[in-house]
Amino acid sequence: MKACYKEILLLAFVFLLLAARSPGQARAASAAPAVAHAGHPAAIAEKTSNPEPARGEDGTEMNEIFKKRHCVRSFQTKDVPREDLRAILQAANSAPSAGGLKAREIIVVTDAATRARLVEAALGQEFVGHAPVVLVFWAVPSRSAHKYGERGRTLYAVQDATIAASFAWLQAVALGLGGCWVGAFDENAVTEIFRSQIGKDWRPIALLPIGYSAE
Ligand SMILES: Cc1cc2nc3c(=O)[nH]c(=O)nc-3n(C[C@H](O)[C@H](O)[C@H](O)COP(=O)(O)O)c2cc1C
Repeated sequence: MKACYKEILLLAFVFLLLAARSPGQARAASAAPAVAHAGHPAAIAEKTSNPEPARGEDGTEMNEIFKKRHCVRSFQTKDVPREDLRAILQAANSAPSAGGLKAREIIVVTDAATRARLVEAALGQEFVGHAPVVLVFWAVPSRSAHKYGERGRTLYAVQDATIAASFAWLQAVALGLGGCWVGAFDENAVTEIFRSQIGKDWRPIALLPIGYSAE
């Protein structure tokens, strides 16, 4: 009888051991397809559902900058600090360009008379003149055409200027400033304002008025 008890106890122990292990095994089996193939949608969803927030060098969360960025069209009169302006230009300069040719230029406008002329060229968009700083982004088609021919002239130079302007805007936001992309302007009028400072083929791509938001 004692031996019988022993056997029953041993069987019960083995049964409990198997019962305790099986739910975990089932979970592992059902989770396996999600991680088995890197390209599987379930695996991608698993990776992206809980992403680590991307951070800038100074710890600023990129997500916060993207969330904060919006068009600011009303500005305080307060000047943009020189070091901030420098950081904004450095950010623009760090933007990628086709073949590293940087087929773009930036003109920094701070004087009121030129800003007033830019308002006119920008079809009367008054807020352009109210920003303490307006950055004018130019494509330099010949610089890209030199290596890439027609594609460089008509596309890459424009993209080089566009990416630089985007970087500048995001850096401005990261520094607590606001701005707005202005693309509606008379290209000839903008070119005329800066005629004496620019190369023959420079093309204005975007105006970026920057300052402290008054919204
Ligand atoms: C190529 C381009 C041209 C734009 N031109 C103007 C413009 O001339 N004037 C203006 O007030 N906003 C302009 N904007 C800003 C958009 O109107 C604005 O980004 C859009 O309404 C989304 O709003 P958000 O930037 O606040 O998210 C332009 C934006 C882009 C990308």
